[in-house]
Amino acid sequence: MRALTWQAANKVAVEDVPDATIIDPTDVVLRITSTAICGSDLHLLDVLKPFMHKHDVMGHEPMGVVVAVGSEVRTLSEGNRVVIPFVIACGECYMCRRGLTSQCETTQNRDQNSGATLYGYTELYGRVPGGQAEYLRVPRADFNAIKVTSDLPDERYLFLSDILPTAWQGVHYAAVPDGGTLLVLGLGPVGQFAARIGAYRGYRVLGVDLVPERRALADRYGVETLDVTDDLSDRIRDLTDGRGPHSVIDAVGMEAHGNPLAAAAQAAAGVLPSAVGKKVAKTVGVDRLAALRTAIETVQRGGTVSLSGVYGGVADPMPMLTMFDKGIGMRMGQCNVHRWISDLWPLVEDPADPLGVTDLVTHHAQLEEAPAMYELFKNKEDGCIKVVLHP
Ligand SMILES: NC(=O)c1ccc[n+]([C@@H]2O[C@H](COP(=O)([O-])OP(=O)(O)OC[C@H]3O[C@@H](n4cnc5c(N)ncnc54)[C@H](O)[C@@H]3O)[C@@H](O)[C@H]2O)c1
Ligand SMILES: [Zn+2]
Ligand SMILES: [Zn+2]
Repeated sequence: MRALTWQAANKVAVEDVPDATIIDPTDVVLRITSTAICGSDLHLLDVLKPFMHKHDVMGHEPMGVVVAVGSEVRTLSEGNRVVIPFVIACGECYMCRRGLTSQCETTQNRDQNSGATLYGYTELYGRVPGGQAEYLRVPRADFNAIKVTSDLPDERYLFLSDILPTAWQGVHYAAVPDGGTLLVLGLGPVGQFAARIGAYRGYRVLGVDLVPERRALADRYGVETLDVTDDLSDRIRDLTDGRGPHSVIDAVGMEAHGNPLAAAAQAAAGVLPSAVGKKVAKTVGVDRLAALRTAIETVQRGGTVSLSGVYGGVADPMPMLTMFDKGIGMRMGQCNVHRWISDLWPLVEDPADPLGVTDLVTHHAQLEEAPAMYELFKNKEDGCIKVVLHP
């Protein structure tokens, strides 16, 4: 089958790979109909490259039609249309029973000291072939494939695989008081949905990004947008009675623009031999904390910072004095996708489309065009905000 694979730093390609097949009796195999490119895929191109292998199949935001069913699958059959959470979990363990499926104790990667297994996401998370491919094997399919029974288009459901629940969890973790103010840093796909969810819940929402068309899209959903400038924190305080917003979501992550020193460390880690590079990426600070620093700096005293953006590394200095002194609450983590599906399902099926799930994709393309689409999305060219591939 054809699939988008990792080749080398900043290089992906579409090539022939072994077919997805049933391995365990609880698996199904899907023919993929829609599969998106995510900001998290961009981390694999560069920062997380020490954990990638040539020919690894990427992608973790897929949906499709079941074409093969293992003998122990109870709830799915050939022809079912399904959407796939990017987290692979068991649904039965201590963590899953508490809704923490991204910490699933059955699929945890203990050898790597990492949480639940993820599709297409490095050896830290199980090195499972991803969904930017013609076909996908779904393990423990009764729990990890969610059946779509309507005739609504893929786009209604596709983002339940990742960015919609990620944004929902981000807003939940942000603990915004009723009628309060939420600042969303980064207006990529995750930030767009976080801002819309905030507005939908009746909060005042401020949003920040460097890219004009991303700000323009957020403007349309009633978000008060700002560019990234040297006096950003002052302008945010000016807009919030001098106190700052009640809650801040960092929807940027470790590739924030604005910290050349850390960028140099990151680049250095990338050119090191693999074993050393891994150690550097895991233990030495290669993070770029620009957005996180803005979050800590601007959040109201006693307020909450919620990290949806992905971070790695351990050695970057954090402004502990400020965090402690301001009494900040902080929550973060990989999305517990399964937990939020039932909250979001009625909203994605609502004819009024309150979260605008059909108003995010700027580029539809064939699988063979995926490498070009990665370039567009990474460089934010041609107005690119979200890409969906149709294998
Ligand atoms: N926690 C999870 O489970 C989960 C799931 C999906 C994505 N993510 C993470 O969420 C983050 C966003 O994902 P995305 O798909 O929206 O990616 P994206 O790369 O398209 O969005 C990031 C946005 O941040 C902007 N930005 C960069 N530096 C900034 C700064 N200093 N201040 C404000 N904005 C800045 C960029 O211009 C871009 O629009 C990524 O780190 C991704 O890995 C996490
Ligand atoms: Zn994703
Ligand atoms: Zn589990």
